[in-house]
Amino acid sequence: MNAFPPGATATLRTTWRWLREPIAFFDDCKRRYGDTFSMRIAGLPPIVVFSDPEAVKQIFADDGHTLEAGKFNLSLRAFLGERSVLMLDGDEHMRQRKLLLPPFHGERMLTYGRAMMELADAAIDGWPLLSGSGRHSFALHPSMQTITLQIILRTVFGIDEAAAMAPVERNIAALLDIAAWAPLLLPPLQRDFGAWSPWAKFQKEAAELDRTLRELIDRRRREGTAGRTDVLSLLVGARDEEGAPLTDDELRDELVTLLVAGHETTATSLAWALRWILARPKVEARLMEELAPVANQPDRVAKLEYLDAVVRETLRLQPVVPIVGRVLARDVSIGDYQLPKGSAVVASIYLAHRREAAFPDAEEFRPERFLERKASPNEWYPFGGGNRRCIGMAFALYEMKMVLARILTRTTLRLDPREHIKVVRRSITLTPSGGVRVFMHARA
Ligand code: HEM
Repeated sequence: MNAFPPGATATLRTTWRWLREPIAFFDDCKRRYGDTFSMRIAGLPPIVVFSDPEAVKQIFADDGHTLEAGKFNLSLRAFLGERSVLMLDGDEHMRQRKLLLPPFHGERMLTYGRAMMELADAAIDGWPLLSGSGRHSFALHPSMQTITLQIILRTVFGIDEAAAMAPVERNIAALLDIAAWAPLLLPPLQRDFGAWSPWAKFQKEAAELDRTLRELIDRRRREGTAGRTDVLSLLVGARDEEGAPLTDDELRDELVTLLVAGHETTATSLAWALRWILARPKVEARLMEELAPVANQPDRVAKLEYLDAVVRETLRLQPVVPIVGRVLARDVSIGDYQLPKGSAVVASIYLAHRREAAFPDAEEFRPERFLERKASPNEWYPFGGGNRRCIGMAFALYEMKMVLARILTRTTLRLDPREHIKVVRRSITLTPSGGVRVFMHARA
């Protein structure tokens, strides 16, 4: 058995490349070192990166007592709070996860379909039509962020009125824009260097969000949750195996987690989906054929096979989160390596999704591949895996379908040919540069 495989050493350049050009960095590592390599990033333990299905299977099979995701996610603690499910490990994690899962069960999503479509429609109504006089394109990504944020506020927080939503929307958008600067993930920069420093600005916005969330929790407890379908109401009523509810601090941290984990990820995946659909006329035509007869019926849209394949192919080719990681609570052997306690393993979503053995012509956007063959959970895992798999997976897949159905059947969009779309990092997500600029030729 080997100890660490060769890889990128602990230099400022390695950290800089990981933060600034993660895709080129991973491609280079794979070319130089093969499937499995190590990397050393400032502020993180030594990491071994895996993408071959057998090693990934082993990582996802752990029960959470040996491979700890909470410890790996530490750089997010200052953003999410220490009681967030993403921060916890072992029994504490399982308790919290079990309380969070029921509201996100696949069947429950049907309750939210209509609201998702309405919020998408309202955003579409505000887009500028291409007029004879101007050649102005607009970016889709910010609009996707508005839609997915409003969907979370409505379905998770239970805020129904636009007037009540507006200040929260401003607050959250400001917060996430500050947090988008990737170096802020490094703990040494999470310090107040004066009122204008990013961390000081972040703290100010975070305090405002904290007040809003505590008021919301307090009101829901006082007014009761009878007849309400939002996730917060379900969580207020949830009890663990000992009959204990979530405390206010736990609820607050979970709400921030659902917001942060659920909003940008889905918005960015939608922007990537449109980037590829609009660039592939045959895909767009096949989708339109499938969507046209059912586009305002959430339950039928949810079951469309080609739409499902398009969403899965988008998440394969452009995974918004490129890696998931775990820290070792004891010495473990994974693949050919005997790794010491305290080091970390990463399952690379990005590299796994580009393996030719699982996805022939992996660089191509070809949704049909998901109709021809079902990918295993250690080959295709945009939502991570095992007992840490994304709680919002069914929610996100469903939401993407609802929003795409409305956009594609109500508008005629064309990509702005002047844009060359590249992958850029926004905090922990990989987003399209320029935000996917389009012209809207028609709107129904
Ligand atoms: C396309 C959209 C999304 C993507 C790509 C995504 C991706 C991920 C990934 C990669 C993880 C880490 C899994 C691991 O460590 O193995 C995760 C965890 C999580 N996600 Fe998502 N996510 C998305 C949408 C959502 C939504 C909509 C919500 C909720 C509203 C959500 C809530 C969570 C939570 C609570 C966790 C922590 C699970 C745990 O630690 O047990 N996500 N997500």
